[in-house]
Amino acid sequence: MTLLEVNQVSKRFGGLTANQDVSFTVDAGQVVGLIGPNGAGKTTLFNCIAGFFAPTSGRILLDGLNIAGLSPEACAKAGVARTFQVARTFASMTACENVMTAAMLLEHNIVKSRVAAMHWLGFVNLDRFADKLAASMTISEQRRLAVARALAIEPRILLMDEVMAGLNPSEVREAVEVVLKIRDKGIACLIVEHVLEGIMPIADKIVVLERGMKIAEGTPQQVSNDPLVITAYLGD
Ligand SMILES: Nc1ncnc2c1ncn2[C@@H]1O[C@H](COP(=O)(O)OP(=O)(O)O)[C@@H](O)[C@H]1O
Ligand SMILES: [Mg+2]
Repeated sequence: MTLLEVNQVSKRFGGLTANQDVSFTVDAGQVVGLIGPNGAGKTTLFNCIAGFFAPTSGRILLDGLNIAGLSPEACAKAGVARTFQVARTFASMTACENVMTAAMLLEHNIVKSRVAAMHWLGFVNLDRFADKLAASMTISEQRRLAVARALAIEPRILLMDEVMAGLNPSEVREAVEVVLKIRDKGIACLIVEHVLEGIMPIADKIVVLERGMKIAEGTPQQVSNDPLVITAYLGD
């Protein structure tokens, strides 16, 4: 069943077209990878889906409801959660407090939001760091913390922007495990990733952007054999 439908979405910044007529769908519980060279428009598209930018044109349907142009808060209420390319954790707060800021949106009660926060910290395997300051956590831990905080709003789809970048192989495996656990809960995952070894084995579908346009879509195997994709990555 289609959960998210990105339909002919374009986003222009003055004369620069960051996204042009991009269309694809994400089914409930699917893992979809969004890949493409630097500057292809991946983060811009995330910003459009999560309400940080209004698309210049096109529609973004979540369960049939057009969320294009809604505020980030309204998109979150509709079921879209996200992480940022540079993990934006609250440095001077503990891991638990970081997740509580999101849990409080659902649960207007300190005690109950602490319980929810601990649940999500456990889910990403960070419960032992609950009282640790975010500032003193590694990049890999901060990325998982950002995922826990996003999950605490109980989204139907989670957008993750390069959660595996800069991680060592065992940290990549840990991040992959978390994505699979999220999917197994029935939450769809739309993942921007440069770490192709991380995303290719777990994606149901890959969408490839180049210079704002979708140049390929298919199974990981289909897109990695696609001459257009190979050229986009390796040059002519
Ligand atoms: N807020 C903005 N204002 C102007 N140009 C932007 C803005 N955000 C992104 N861009 C431009 O849009 C293009 C796509 O960027 P981005 O979506 O960040 O690509 P990616 O995430 O695929 O690397 C780039 O040329 C970038 O400079
Ligand atoms: Mg980006």
